[in-house]
Amino acid sequence: MVSAEQLYEKLKDIHVGNPICQFTKENCELLLPTIERIEKLKREKNAIILVHNYVAPQIFYSVADFTGDSYGLSKNAKESDADVIVFSAVRFMAETAKILNPEKIVLDPNPNGGCSLADGITESDVIKLRQQFPDHTFVCYINTTAAVKAQCDVCVTSSNVYKIIEKIPNDKIYFLPDKLMGENVIQNLKAKGVNKNIELWDGTCYVHEEYQPESIDQVRRNFEDVEILVHPECSSAVVNKADYVGSTSQMLNHVRESERDSFFLLTECGLTGVLQSEFPQKTFAGSCTMCKYMKSNSLEDILNVLENPSPQNIIEIAPETQKRALQCVNRMFDYSDH
Ligand code: 13P
Ligand code: SF4
Repeated sequence: MVSAEQLYEKLKDIHVGNPICQFTKENCELLLPTIERIEKLKREKNAIILVHNYVAPQIFYSVADFTGDSYGLSKNAKESDADVIVFSAVRFMAETAKILNPEKIVLDPNPNGGCSLADGITESDVIKLRQQFPDHTFVCYINTTAAVKAQCDVCVTSSNVYKIIEKIPNDKIYFLPDKLMGENVIQNLKAKGVNKNIELWDGTCYVHEEYQPESIDQVRRNFEDVEILVHPECSSAVVNKADYVGSTSQMLNHVRESERDSFFLLTECGLTGVLQSEFPQKTFAGSCTMCKYMKSNSLEDILNVLENPSPQNIIEIAPETQKRALQCVNRMFDYSDH
């Protein structure tokens, strides 16, 4: 188990501009009894805890068995031999873990784990769209419910969306629900000379849609040699001005390999905090925007869900929906592996 000193060592360099992400040694000591109880329950129940890169740093650096982006964490869930998976992130990620592990107990500790993308499209929307576009391959972003995945052909994440859509043999694609990511795909394929007819649903991430290209111009004027990293949920006006576009873990790996010393990030500020902690010799600036859904996770909720989960913490998916959604998610793994 992590000690107060070790936890403080990880958290002390995080200054993302929001007071709830600033830590003292005393704060770390106060967290220890909860962390200790969580670790004990994990051992007793053969449970693992998966934590997304945006989740609060005191969770990320204390009780996580695996941390990462939505693709990496789905892979961790798929390969796990634990009996219980606690998914500290948002609902659609916990649902994906259940799609991959129908026989395991999957717990969502987050009382408010929505997502503006996943909540913006329903199963019946997709059923209607399929009647309207019968010749299209339906590609869904992983930020969708299990019921929506069950109506689609192939799932993608921010780490593989360009590659998978390019590989799909059909030239007619319906991509949902992220319109901005879809516009980035269209632009990316055009630049490579790949011609596909891509229809888009009108959804957005409420965090990433806010970023404006002007903030990149301003940063470049004020700081020489800064590298600009953005998430593909941003608009193409933002993406066009960036030096690197990738998933949260791809951005982290990019910083690890980059020779530059200063970075500006346009993505949820949890990632800025992870980078500040991992690379204290480098300088990171970025938006202080928090995803209210990702930040609803708390250590107390994780403890409660391991001790005594309520029905809404336990992910249940109807068998027929799970089977169809699994085909959609497995096609993503097939495309990614080949
Ligand atoms: P990643 O898969 O890049 O971690 O993204 C998940 C997400 O919700 C981004 O807003
Ligand atoms: Fe959804 Fe945006 Fe939050 Fe990611 S950051 S979970 S896409 S609302």
